[in-house]
Amino acid sequence: MKLIVQPASAPLSGAVRPPGDKSISHRAALLGGLARGSTRIEGFLPADDTLATLNAMAELGAAVSRNGDRVSIEGRGLQAPDHALDLGNSGTGIRLLTGALAGHPDLFGCRITLVGDESLSRRPMGRVIEPLERMGAKIDSRNGHCPLVVRPRLLVAHEHRLKIASAQVKSAILLAGLHADGETGLFEPAPSRDHTERLLPAFGVRPIVHAGRIAITGPASLRGTQVRVPGDLSSAAFLVAAALLVKGSRIEIGPVGTNPTRDGFLRVIERMAPGRVSRQIVAGDAGAGAEPVASLAVQGAGALHGLEIPAEWVPLVIDEFPLLMALAATARGTTVIRGAAELRVKESDRLAVMCRQLRRLGVRLEERPDGAEIVGGPIHGGVVDAEGDHRIAMSLAVLALVADAPVTIDNAQWIRTSYPGFADDLVALGSNLEWQ
Ligand code: S3P
Repeated sequence: MKLIVQPASAPLSGAVRPPGDKSISHRAALLGGLARGSTRIEGFLPADDTLATLNAMAELGAAVSRNGDRVSIEGRGLQAPDHALDLGNSGTGIRLLTGALAGHPDLFGCRITLVGDESLSRRPMGRVIEPLERMGAKIDSRNGHCPLVVRPRLLVAHEHRLKIASAQVKSAILLAGLHADGETGLFEPAPSRDHTERLLPAFGVRPIVHAGRIAITGPASLRGTQVRVPGDLSSAAFLVAAALLVKGSRIEIGPVGTNPTRDGFLRVIERMAPGRVSRQIVAGDAGAGAEPVASLAVQGAGALHGLEIPAEWVPLVIDEFPLLMALAATARGTTVIRGAAELRVKESDRLAVMCRQLRRLGVRLEERPDGAEIVGGPIHGGVVDAEGDHRIAMSLAVLALVADAPVTIDNAQWIRTSYPGFADDLVALGSNLEWQ
């Protein structure tokens, strides 16, 4: 499907409540399916990615029912399905599930096949297979790619030193550690999002986090609980950016999670448009998972400033790079991104795809192996392609608001992966977008 975006003719205004956090929704569905007893989730993200994880837990034996963003899961032990589990486009779904199944005693002697779509089948799985194999796991792959065949068996605890800051790898290890005898520990090269560590205690298992080491003691079993998922800062970021770009806009967004391992976007924005986004902390709305929550008030800035993004912020803003590249394309001066080679193994090669698509709108830039240098300037109308990536589609839609003519985004249906109501929310704020 195509999304046609008209240049903004008036400031954006109004208030929007963004959908539930994708990372936390995956984890709540997964832990709820693994736990014994009832789990109730409020604010669950009903998007393709998270529904794939929820569906996988149902196919593994959990009783799942859903009404909009309310999910109820009855965990009653796992059983192997007689067909492959399809995790669609979701790296989080497949990697966390691989860890959770690798040593699951209910499944000893079984074979569980995990598959994904074309994009997921291109993404590296060796990063989870290798550490899990060090714990004794048996996982077959096609040269480190899916389909994966997990053969659950007894695992041994292990001390891991991760080469990349990846919450998916960290979480896969912690979930495998639930079934290994003893303490499974890990060190990350830099902090990655810590939603798994925050959510596990609500399910009755408390990881030990001390001096940069994260550990879990097995064997441990999870029990059902209640989870309230906060709004997704990564989805809210698109609306924040839209309002910042369109001069005179005033919008409120929230509540959203503002976990410090995820809030790099707000830090970068504070440099690109100082004082334009303010956070009001929402007290007592965190629910199980102890996530900090805030509402955001945004005032349109018109011109933003280019900047050099500090390398140590990269993991904290990893999912917002396509959007930051779009903002950089209209900012005053040059924006420099370095140390972000991980972007090449996301839902698409986000450095290559964003550079290619921005050029089609007249942007001057240089692509680097681990980043890009983008010179801000005028944005032209035209036709771009989301190339199978939800965040690329939404980033280009936001940028189109300040183009000199309409922008058509081909293959924008991928937005359903994480934010099905994105176009409706932008329209509610006064933009003109149309599906075709
Ligand atoms: C996620 C971790 C990040 C992020 C992804 C969601 C998670 O991936 O990019 O969108 O929920 O754990 P990596 O772990 O590969 O960095």
